[in-house]
Amino acid sequence: MTPATTAASPYGTLPAVPPPASRKPISLPRLREMHAQGEKITMLTAYDATFAAVADSAGVESILVGDSLGMVCQGMPSTVGVTLETMRHYTESVARGLHRAQATAWLISDLPFGSYHESKEQALRSAAVLMQAGAHMVKLEGGGWTEDTVHFLVERGIPVCAHLGLTPQTVHSLGGYRVQGKSEEAATTLKTHAHALQDAGAAMMVLEMVPAALSATLTKELPHCATIGIGAGVGTAGQVLVLHDMLGMNLGKMPKFVHNFMSEENSVRGAMQAYVRAVKEGRFPVDALHAW
Ligand code: KIV
Repeated sequence: MTPATTAASPYGTLPAVPPPASRKPISLPRLREMHAQGEKITMLTAYDATFAAVADSAGVESILVGDSLGMVCQGMPSTVGVTLETMRHYTESVARGLHRAQATAWLISDLPFGSYHESKEQALRSAAVLMQAGAHMVKLEGGGWTEDTVHFLVERGIPVCAHLGLTPQTVHSLGGYRVQGKSEEAATTLKTHAHALQDAGAAMMVLEMVPAALSATLTKELPHCATIGIGAGVGTAGQVLVLHDMLGMNLGKMPKFVHNFMSEENSVRGAMQAYVRAVKEGRFPVDALHAW
């Protein structure tokens, strides 16, 4: 069959080229299968149609429309100012890009600060906005108070990714972007929350800035919830990085857990492919360099 192509156009082209037959669409069962088989899951953030389509074509399996867009796209000092309407807008752009490129990636969108805190009903209404914008899964931050909400969403057919450790929406309570779960007490609390979130039905869980040993233990203890690390060591079920960071587009001090994949490549797609290879082969992150 001849692949459908579009004429070259300016401003970036998103061709409708069918993916190779060998590439299976990424669904929740496929993610669970990868997790069960010990195949590392790759994730990058993306905030627009083109970067999302390029990431997919580079083999990135899951795209996160992170509320980090508040910082990298909107120039805000934290993610706290990001609204649901903003998340809808960016999620729609990414979903359109993936659709036009006949992409296979799994699309996750962040529930922003204040959009799920009031009640589980409020969380459902907010999640519906993101799902209708094209997300396959929503992500929400925190443990302890979030479990009922996760259960409520999952029961209603909305896949949920949890987020523990450094939760940027609560940066003002945490007092900064610091490693979490370092003390024995904090590690026990984090573990309790992680188990409860798995029991509530969270299928994935971002662990951000969590000591490598704790993340590795948790990953083994959570067979039904794939841990995705960022600054959490190599022992998680998958990895995520913020797109701009891994492309070296950070004018400030680069966080310790980031590697600039652009430094050895001469294209964005090449850098993303290098990231995918490094994660799959367990070469990134390196605990001694990128973790605590
Ligand atoms: O908003 C975001 O980009 C995130 C990642 C850092 C995991 O939550």
